[in-house]
Formats: sequence, C-alpha cells, structure tokens
Amino acid sequence: MVDECSPSSTRPARPLHLTVDVYEQLKDKITPNGFTLERAIQSGVDNPDSGVGLYAGDEECYSVFGPLFDAVIEDYHGGYKPSDKHVSDLDAAKLKGTVDPEGKYVLSTRIRVGRNIRGLGLSPGCSRAQRREVESLVTKGLANLKGDLAGKYFPLNGMSEADRKQLVADHFLFKKGDRFLESAGANRDWPEGRGIFHNNEKTFLVWVNEEDQMRIISMQSGGDAKQVFERLVRGISAIEEQVKAAGREFAHNDHLGYIHSCPTNCGTGMRASVHVQLPKVGAHPNFKKWCAKLRLQPRGIHGEHSESDGGVYDLSNKERLGKSEVQLVQTMIDGVNTLIAAEKALAEGKPLPSELQ
Ligand code: ADP
Ligand code: ARG
Repeated sequence: MVDECSPSSTRPARPLHLTVDVYEQLKDKITPNGFTLERAIQSGVDNPDSGVGLYAGDEECYSVFGPLFDAVIEDYHGGYKPSDKHVSDLDAAKLKGTVDPEGKYVLSTRIRVGRNIRGLGLSPGCSRAQRREVESLVTKGLANLKGDLAGKYFPLNGMSEADRKQLVADHFLFKKGDRFLESAGANRDWPEGRGIFHNNEKTFLVWVNEEDQMRIISMQSGGDAKQVFERLVRGISAIEEQVKAAGREFAHNDHLGYIHSCPTNCGTGMRASVHVQLPKVGAHPNFKKWCAKLRLQPRGIHGEHSESDGGVYDLSNKERLGKSEVQLVQTMIDGVNTLIAAEKALAEGKPLPSELQ
C-alpha cells in the first residue's frame, strides 16, 4: 500500500486512492453479502496497469467501502461528488441529427446499457446459486418479449465452438472475461450461467452474466443512432417490466444511477458506439487528444483493449455518470461527426474543424 502515486512504467499516471488511512479504515469491513476490501481491490493488485482496478461484489460495496469508491468515482467521472444526483433521460425524440448522414464512414451503430438486479450479487461477488437465479429470472422474462424484441436465449454452456467463434467475430457475443475480470473473480464457474439472447435480426441482444448480470444491446448497420436508441429504450422498459413481475427491481439509486460491478459503468451504464472508418484521423498524432476533447473513447474493432483494423475505430461516449443517456448519445453523434469532418479536411488538405483547433 502506498500513500501517493509514484511514477511506474506499468501504472498509468493517476492518483492512488487506496491510501494507508483509507486501507486502515476499511480493511476489516464486510458487506452483508460477505464481500471484502481485499476482493474489491484484487484486480488492481494483480494488474498494476489497471486504469481503475476496483470492482464491487454487491450494491452495498459502494457504501461500506464508500471512502474508496467515492474517491475513484470522483476521479474517473470528472469530479462527480458524493452529494451529486444522477438523472436519467431515455427520450429518443430529443436526439438531434444522425451520425454520418451521407452514409460514407460509419459501418454500424451499437448502444448498450448494463443492468443488475437488487439483492443478487454483482459478478465478482455473486454465488453460483445467485448467478443461476439471475439466468433463470432473466431468461424467463426475455421469453415473454413481443414483436421485434422477441427472440431466443442461447446458453454458452453447450454452444458449439464454431457458433461461439462466429458470434464473437460478428461482434454479437462476449469473450471470457479478460485478466482484469479474472482477478476480480467475475469468471468463476465459466461458462455456467452465461449466455446470449437475440432477436432474429440480431438487432436486439441481451448478454447474461458477463461483467454485469445484464448487458442490454441494440445495434444495426449504418449510423441511425436514433433508431438504435429507440429500440434499446423499448427493450430496457420491456425487461424492467418482466423483472418487476418477478417481484424484483434493478439495483439503482439517485446518486449512482444504475449500479454496476465496475465503478466506471455506474450511472447510465451506457456506451453508444459506432464502428467508423477514419484512416487519416486515426493515424494522426493528435487522435487521442481530439477524442478526449470531444469526450469520446476510442477502442479497436474487437472491443475493449483491442486494436484498430484497416483504419476502422470503435468510438463511443467516455462518460457514463452525471449526464443523461440522451446527452451521452448526443455527445457521440456530435463528436463522431466532427471527426468525420476532420477526415474529409485531412483528405482534401483543408483546415480542421474549429472544435479541434
Ligand atoms: P462493451 O461495449 O460491452 O463495453 P466491448 O467494447 O468489448 O464491450 O465490445 C463488445 C463487442 O461489441 C465487440 O465485439 C465490439 O466489436 C462490438 N461493438 C462495439 N461497438 C460496435 C458497433 N458500433 N458496431 C458493431 N459492433 C460493435
Ligand atoms: N478494471 C479495468 C481497469 O481498471 C477495466 C476498467 C473499465 N473497463 C471495464 N470493462 N469495466 O483498467
């Protein structure tokens, strides 16, 4: 345990919030579900190159280990204070414009949110029985969805290796959790209790028991973010109805919004992304700086921690907490359109858009 951030080649230059004082204050605390500080920090201890390195095993971690989680959340979510309130807005009619109206650069649009059920452990802390209960409750509810949301659940256990690989390659299915999730304990009993639900067109999907109990996803080709968002919102509300009918509710509060296993996802739990062809912008030395300015997060096209391929990037809203879903989708639409304008400017030798100068 160190008191302040010391330069290291493996650790990003961020403040360390687990000070000796905070450690002493929290080391013997335990949540009602039995989760400890050691388990919450295990991933960061094992992986010194973590950006955050902290996970919650249940909703109560955010209060029992509050001095640590609050500090990490304030740092990651742009100064979000313990007294701040998170407001949700899922009104698709408020979105303005579309990504890439000419349809030349954006290959596909995907918006996902995470949801967890109150009283059932989050992935690093759930028991095998709780994970099974989540799967049973969620899949029963999903079987009742109607119209374009109706589909089928495919458990990972028993899926052929060829089918699994194809679903991953086509960007529909998750892979086994990475070393960060492994250390956090989120991969226990893999692949039991995990699976994917999708409609016929694979435009509405639900991941069950991956990093969060549910990842609700809407995606399609092209840049019609409004249509993708509108389908997502209908999906969320249909699933919430099913959860309520089972006598349960989503884990949520006014301060943290929707509760997630990783503090980076609290709030909306929403990542609105496009796969977009930006070879010149992506190769530019200022690419990361521009993304940060536009409040975008660049990823490679095979998901988090992957590389770009052929100049195609995954660009999404970086923030999740303290801004509404509508605001964050709009940030993605506007930011990506600015980078598309930059791509054109670089190709034609013209000045960059003013937002980037
Ligand atoms: P998450 O979005 O749940 O945080 P990842 O970044 O690992 O997780 O992405 C999960 C999968 O979704 C990956 O296969 C990724 O390529 C795919 N994906 C993300 N955004 C898009 C998009 N706009 N179009 C198509 N696939 C996407
Ligand atoms: N725990 C990892 C880190 O600190 C990932 C954090 C964000 N990503 C996530 N999938 N929750 O770098």
